[in-house]
Amino acid sequence: MESLPLRSSMGRSPLLASRGPARPEIRPRRVGLRVVSAAAAAGEGGAPEPDLRVRVNGLEMPNPFVIASGPPGTNYTVMKRAFDEGWGAVISKTVSLDAAKVVNVTPRYARLRAGSNGSVKGSIIGWENIELISDRPLETMLNEFKQLKEEYPERILIASIMEEYNKGAWQELIERVEATGVDALEINFSCPHGMPERKMGAAVGQDCALLEEVCGWINEKATVPVWAKMTPNITDITQPARVALKSGCEGVSAINTIMSVMGIDLNTLHPEPCVEGYSTPGGYSAKAVHPIALAKVMQIAKMMKEEYDKDYSLSGIGGVETGGDAAEFILLGANTVQVCTGVMMHGYGLVKKLCTDLKDFMRKHNFTSIEDFRGVSLQYFTTHTDLVQRQQEAIRQRKAVKKGLQSDKDWTGDGFVKETESMVSN
Ligand SMILES: Cc1cc2nc3c(=O)[nH]c(=O)nc-3n(C[C@H](O)[C@H](O)[C@H](O)COP(=O)(O)O)c2cc1C
Repeated sequence: MESLPLRSSMGRSPLLASRGPARPEIRPRRVGLRVVSAAAAAGEGGAPEPDLRVRVNGLEMPNPFVIASGPPGTNYTVMKRAFDEGWGAVISKTVSLDAAKVVNVTPRYARLRAGSNGSVKGSIIGWENIELISDRPLETMLNEFKQLKEEYPERILIASIMEEYNKGAWQELIERVEATGVDALEINFSCPHGMPERKMGAAVGQDCALLEEVCGWINEKATVPVWAKMTPNITDITQPARVALKSGCEGVSAINTIMSVMGIDLNTLHPEPCVEGYSTPGGYSAKAVHPIALAKVMQIAKMMKEEYDKDYSLSGIGGVETGGDAAEFILLGANTVQVCTGVMMHGYGLVKKLCTDLKDFMRKHNFTSIEDFRGVSLQYFTTHTDLVQRQQEAIRQRKAVKKGLQSDKDWTGDGFVKETESMVSN
């Protein structure tokens, strides 16, 4: 674990103290995203050591790796473990006011393995879950957030929250969660199963009018940075992302799980995961969703760059198991990278490998800070029409270069110099 003297600069910031019901809907940005230069970290005489520290919405993290909301953030013991292992920040399992309404079933996970016909020997590439949000009493979770912030005041703890379509409920939840000292809120507008039946999660994230209204309630109340977590189960993810930012959120996280049916057991003819002979579509995660997540993050990053000159933050999520997977999200513009299923498969120690991999990548390219390469690959995305034009032009140029003269009879008097040059190799 990197032992850096970092601390959250938010929480009790005087800038935030002004946040309250009377504020205009769209608040001025409170903190920029500039990253401390890595030059200071340079070893004597040698190349600077890659600096993984990030500063996002004023929150300082030792590295960009964040525990995503899910089983790895369900209770005090596991969140403490995440801090001890060196994760840059922890996002809790999503909490709501009344956990008694949350009733889970088992089995609730199903896995897809690589290899022919789902060979049991293949590595896990896809993961479906039908798990709901936290089923632990809110009061218990709040006490644990408080304890964690008391024991780790300099580490970043983000509470994931979700409520029913009710302004009072949302605002009560925000007030009680913020009172524990958490550094930021991530709003789960994206859970694809179970919760939409109660007009929660993806039901809000898929409806821009609802989303705008709920974001309004949230941002009217919250005094810490708010990240809106997007569902990929929508035609154009930039639409809700835009609405969330316009409605006052400081950042966007993407993606939550993708609506899926893991498969049908060809012996029993029942779907998986199978609960008393039945199933329900769940959320897909892990390596298989990574390319889809990259596309969604790219679309959001492009929209942010083209439409806003503010430093909104972007958190990339989906199928991260290596530092290279994380580098891809950052190259598309993500400030932080979240991991859920990767931790369920490899444990909390995964963060050490992620940091080592990412530093190796940075050394290879002489990047000294995350900001050195954040968003660098975004410029290489264009339309298909533009690809066609670029390719035709490249072919034309290659042909022109290669062309030369086919035969001595082709030399002309007027074009003699050009004709000569067309056959020179350097
Ligand atoms: C078992 C499981 C439970 C999850 N629970 C939540 C949750 O409570 N709130 C939430 O916002 N996302 C939840 N997620 C979604 C993850 O945070 C993440 O967005 C998604 O799994 C993609 O990332 P991954 O491939 O790293 O897992 C859950 C994912 C899994 C696999």
